Amino acid sequence: MNPNKALWEKGDFTRIAATMRESGEALVQRLGIRRGMKVLDLGCGDGTTALPAAKLGAEVVGVDIAANLVEAGNRRAKEMALANCRFQEGDASNLHELPDRAFDRVMSIFGAMFAPKPNDVAKEMVRVTRPGGRIVMGNWIPGDPTLVAQILKISSAYAPPPPEGFVSPMTWGIESHVIERFVAAGIAADNIRFSKETFTFNFPGSPSAFVDEFRKYYGPTMNAFEAAEKDGRAVDLEKELEDLFTAQNKSQNDNVTSIPATFLRVTVEV
Ligand SMILES: C[S@@+](CC[C@H](N)C(=O)[O-])C[C@H]1O[C@@H](n2cnc3c(N)ncnc32)[C@H](O)[C@@H]1O
Repeated sequence: MNPNKALWEKGDFTRIAATMRESGEALVQRLGIRRGMKVLDLGCGDGTTALPAAKLGAEVVGVDIAANLVEAGNRRAKEMALANCRFQEGDASNLHELPDRAFDRVMSIFGAMFAPKPNDVAKEMVRVTRPGGRIVMGNWIPGDPTLVAQILKISSAYAPPPPEGFVSPMTWGIESHVIERFVAAGIAADNIRFSKETFTFNFPGSPSAFVDEFRKYYGPTMNAFEAAEKDGRAVDLEKELEDLFTAQNKSQNDNVTSIPATFLRVTVEV
């Protein structure tokens, strides 16, 4: 089994995605998507950004490596009666099923950053975008003090070391790496722009209940807990995450946890 696919099919990312809907919708509103545009959402999960793009009238294809998330996305599209949005399985490092120059917008919000072979990912995104079209990525930033970068940092300290040659997904949050990858894919450096933006997670429960949700359903955290349990360190991991979530919670309401996280938005004019 492809370990990248196994990681994301392991849990149930729809449980985390449910806390990301408002920011997903708000981000899509800022991408200049109009009725009739052809939009690809790579690493789309269950449609946090694909479905809002379809609501704007675009023809949307969502591609994700995890079969369970593709199924969940198609179910949600049906429930919302959005016939202009379909989800299919695929790998961001090799989009052989998609033709060249097919999309006006290619977006990947915390999606393609998790695919192996980042240079191939950049080449594939450029290949399927039409000249004059645009690629937008949302990538978590290594060393950033906010939520997701810290969850991934803490989790990786408990998980076994990655295999040799593994390129960290977090390198997509470093501008020089992003430029290098897109320039190698034929894009002029002047056509790549960066900004730091915020995505807010809203969970209907306490910070520790939200940690529990990551422990049960978010592949990278599930793996970290499995490794920590073997080493007798699960309590330490739980405490580190609870301290993090509690410190970053901005909600005044005990029944809601609301945590903003900073990401790097990458915009590439093709
Ligand atoms: C953190 S989730 C984000 C999902 C969605 N974009 C969202 O914002 O809700 C990462 C997603 O990337 C997908 N993914 C990971 N590796 C992939 C690959 N090689 N090709 C396509 N999708 C991939 C995972 O299955 C998962 O749905």
